[in-house]
Amino acid sequence: MSRVRVAVLVSGRGSNLASLIQAAKAPDYPAEIVLVLSNNPDAGGLDLARAAGIAAVAIDHRPFKKDRPAHEAEIQAALDASGVELIALAGYMRVLTGGFTAAWEGRMINIHPSLLPLFPGLHTHARAIEAGHERAGCTVHWVVEGVDEGPVIGQAEVPVLLGDTPELLAGRVLEAEHRLYPECLAKAAMIVRGA
Ligand code: GRF
Repeated sequence: MSRVRVAVLVSGRGSNLASLIQAAKAPDYPAEIVLVLSNNPDAGGLDLARAAGIAAVAIDHRPFKKDRPAHEAEIQAALDASGVELIALAGYMRVLTGGFTAAWEGRMINIHPSLLPLFPGLHTHARAIEAGHERAGCTVHWVVEGVDEGPVIGQAEVPVLLGDTPELLAGRVLEAEHRLYPECLAKAAMIVRGA
């Protein structure tokens, strides 16, 4: 069966992208990363992609000002040109319009650094520590219009340790993200293929 053609959308350093690139090297991995897209021309993820021989495209959101649909239309054109079948958001920091999420419903996934539905949005680690939780973690979910909502594909838990700072906890969660995301992208690809 042919591998599902995936675009990874990033805004920053791209450590999750790196874990997906690594996983996709396995001959039996059901997805192939054919495109990395960023709204940030300086995103480290673009360099990672190029180093791995993957097409990397920056579509800067700033010239579009508040016109999100126009920015997304350019993204859509790039996705179409690469024959993308599934989108993986990996630290993509732009909120997507309802039109875009509807167009990709069931074909777009995201990773979030909390155990959703706990702590959607930003500063998840500080909020988990502040709340006195003993467990934290990460979630991969299908993307719907509501930010950090949508059916869960998988979660991974880590302990919150005595004396944790948001940075220490973030590092522990990030390691879990790097294990979880490749597994969940594989699951999502099988679902998209109808396997
Ligand atoms: C990760 O913590 C991810 O969960 C969140 O943004 C961060 C991206 O990190 N959505 P990286 O760019 O993959 O290193």
